[in-house]
Amino acid sequence: MGRVRAINLNGFGGPEVMEWAEAPDPTPGHGAVLIEVAAAGVNRADLLQRQGFYPPPAGASEILGLEVSGVIAEVGDGVHDWHVGDRVCALLSGGGYAERVVVPATQLLPVPDELDLGAAAGLPEVAATVWSNLVTTAGMHAGQLVLIHGGGSGIGTHAIQLAVSRGARVAVTAGSQRKLERCEELGASVLINYREKDFVAAIRAEKSSAGHPGADIILDNMGASYLPRNVEALAEHGHLVVIGMQGGVNGELNLAALLGKWGSIHANNLRKRPATGNHSKAAVITDLIQHVWPLIADGTIVPVIHAELAIEDAPEAHRMLDSSDTFGKVILRVREF
Ligand SMILES: NC(=O)c1ccc[n+]([C@@H]2O[C@H](COP(=O)([O-])OP(=O)(O)OC[C@H]3O[C@@H](n4cnc5c(N)ncnc54)[C@H](OP(=O)(O)O)[C@@H]3O)[C@@H](O)[C@H]2O)c1
Repeated sequence: MGRVRAINLNGFGGPEVMEWAEAPDPTPGHGAVLIEVAAAGVNRADLLQRQGFYPPPAGASEILGLEVSGVIAEVGDGVHDWHVGDRVCALLSGGGYAERVVVPATQLLPVPDELDLGAAAGLPEVAATVWSNLVTTAGMHAGQLVLIHGGGSGIGTHAIQLAVSRGARVAVTAGSQRKLERCEELGASVLINYREKDFVAAIRAEKSSAGHPGADIILDNMGASYLPRNVEALAEHGHLVVIGMQGGVNGELNLAALLGKWGSIHANNLRKRPATGNHSKAAVITDLIQHVWPLIADGTIVPVIHAELAIEDAPEAHRMLDSSDTFGKVILRVREF
């Protein structure tokens, strides 16, 4: 078997355990393609995996990296819609911090000609997460008030644009005025600095689509620490969708408060979705190609990139994301095409 370079972990721990070194060259099996990687997106999950807190699902690569862009170098048996030389980005279950990665063809997305491959590497994870949570799970539609916590995150910067493009009114929380201003430039209209204001009071001063106080949908990155206040901030028939646990895993839920407003709470994980079938990655990708990719191709939704670093600087990229000083995505460049 040939060798490629990839980020290997010298044990679990801080960013310094990551090393750009040799790894086995993957080969595409049935229904899969081999991508020559241009760039890889950095995600919070990578930081957790590096520390040993988020093992890859069964069968996935041990190498970090949930999304890449690049060019198809080889196609496996049974792949008819994709060809060697196609510019693509892809949603992975792992393996992205490498020169080459194998991925099921059902997890590929085309990269529009106008879009740089570096920027494209930051799209699959945010687009799949935001679509599957806001639209598929919470049923977001025009006229709704959507609260996006962490508006300046990679997820947040995409969620604002998708929600606005579908006619929703967007409220965001962020920890600085500068981030709030940038969220406003992306289309958010209710701006809440969570360090200075109580987000519950701020959001209950707004009206849901049915004219009640509070948000129709809340997209939450905090988990436990925000659970009681998120329930308070929901409007009647509102949906709280928890996607992150930056504020812990064990929260207190006041069921009386939730049932008094016919509310629902959902919690979803993208990485553990099966490759195909019900609720699969393939199903989300099909939706993205139909509904979101035209908006990316025409520039309605743009990738928001905080920084692009060389793959050898993965430790610095992880420190950057951990600092929360970022606005949008951090990208690791593997090679130029
Ligand atoms: N469930 C899934 O399938 C899935 C998939 C992808 C990502 N996620 C999760 O989604 C979240 C965002 O991911 P990302 O990669 O976009 O992260 P990111 O870019 O690293 O952003 C995280 C953000 O959290 C914000 N934050 C910190 N404390 C906050 C608070 N008290 N209230 C509101 N915001 C706060 C920080 O902004 P400030 O400077 O404004 O504090 C920072 O921008 C993460 O929790 C991640 O694990 C889940």
